[in-house]
This record gives sequence, C-alpha cells and structure tokens, in this order.
Amino acid sequence: MALIKSATEIAKMKESGRIVAKTLRLVSAEIAPGRTPQELDALADKIIREEGGVPSFLGYRGYPAATCISVNNVVVHGIPTADPLKEGDVISLDFGVVKDGWHADGAWTFAVGEISAVAQKLMNVTKESLFQGIAKAKPGNTIGDIGHAVQKYVESYGFGVVRELVGHGIGQKLHDEPHNVPMFGKPGKGEKLREGMCICIEPMINEGTYKVNTLSDGWSVVTADDKLSAHYEHTIAITKNGPVILTSED
Ligand code: MF3
Ligand code: CO
Repeated sequence: MALIKSATEIAKMKESGRIVAKTLRLVSAEIAPGRTPQELDALADKIIREEGGVPSFLGYRGYPAATCISVNNVVVHGIPTADPLKEGDVISLDFGVVKDGWHADGAWTFAVGEISAVAQKLMNVTKESLFQGIAKAKPGNTIGDIGHAVQKYVESYGFGVVRELVGHGIGQKLHDEPHNVPMFGKPGKGEKLREGMCICIEPMINEGTYKVNTLSDGWSVVTADDKLSAHYEHTIAITKNGPVILTSED
C-alpha cells in the first residue's frame, strides 16, 4: 500500500532527506546581496548529484529548474531568475531529491542581509508554525489536527495561511497519498494518521491576505496584495514514537 512505508523504505527516504538538508545548508550559505537565484539553483543541482541524488522538481510537469526560488511576494514555485538578490529580500528555497527511487522534499526561507522587522516576524512565525504542525503528526491524530495547529498559530499573529496550495504525502512519488495535507483545518477532521505514513508539512504564510495569483509563466505563485510570503517544509515520517523529520542531516 503506497500510503504506509516500512522502516527500510523510510530509511531510504531519510537518505534523500539528508541530501535535501545538506544541500539547503550549503546553498543557503551562499545567499547574499548580488548573488542570483540561477547561481543558487545551479549549485543545488550540483550538490544533489554529487550526493548521488537527482533533483526531483526538474522536469516535473515540465518545471525547468532543480529548485523553486521564491523572492519577497512570490509565495512558491518561483523559477530561478538572473536578477541579483538585494539587501532586505526574503528568499525561499524549495526542492526535492529522489535517490534509489525514494523522495524527500523540503523548503526554508532566508533573509538577504538586514531585513525589516515584519519580514523577520513572518519568517519566525512561519517556521514555528511548521513545528506546531509537525508536533501533531502522530498516529491517531488526523490531517485536520495538523492544519488546525498551523492555522491557529499563524492567525494569532494576523498572518494569512495560503489555501490554494497544500502539503502532501510523499514516497516513491513526489506527490503521493494522502494527496492533500492542508495547512488549515479543524481538529479531528480528515484522514487518520497512521504509523508508516510519510507527509510533507509546508506552511506557506503571507504577511497580508492569504489570497494568491499565478503569474503568466504558469508557475510563480504571488501574493494577491504583493506583500511578503514565507515557506518552510519538512518531509516527516509518522512513527509509533511520533513524528520523525526526514529532511535533516542527523
Ligand atoms: N513545491 C512543491 C511541493 O512542495 C512541488 C513543486 S513542483 C515543481 O510539493 F515542479 F514546481 F517543482
Ligand atoms: Co512539498
């Protein structure tokens, strides 16, 4: 059953997740004013392959790069550009790795130099909301419990939870069962979480309205009010001992 992974299969996903985390660490160290998203994308592609993985976003439904790099008002799915980063930008890196047939997917938001107080707050709240969601990812809870935890935390700060894009199951496919893991919801609602499920929890949080639009490139999702957005994502396994983060180096 695609939904439930064995310990051996989860170990393979952990190896892909290790590559995601290592790549994120090395690429993020290069973020600075003057560097371009295209340079960061090329570096990520190189590191992933050196580690024996393949960038899973490249070619996914025709997507043209190894990473999604979303700057400022771009929520997700930004195609890496040649526009130099500027002091004060907020940049989200999002990418997946497949190795030995098993996937992992992660995202993190970074500051370029000094950023505004509201940008820093948005990043802090979005990151913490991810961990609020992860804490609910245990057997017996439901998908609604995860979304509710994220939404409650984020909205208490007045920020907007994107509705049009959601987290997802992951395994031998980048997007696997359960197909929809919303970052909003009601406690006790939705599918029950079971030992061996692997999911991506990925709050996409906007400074202002939760509403988004897609640009004419067919990919870039932007905030409807052009305010900032942040995105953090981990691939996690649901085990009898609770959630295990697979996109980590330890
Ligand atoms: N970022 C999406 C996710 O986390 C996947 C993007 S697919 C791509 O599920 F084609 F845009 F890369
Ligand atoms: Co994802």
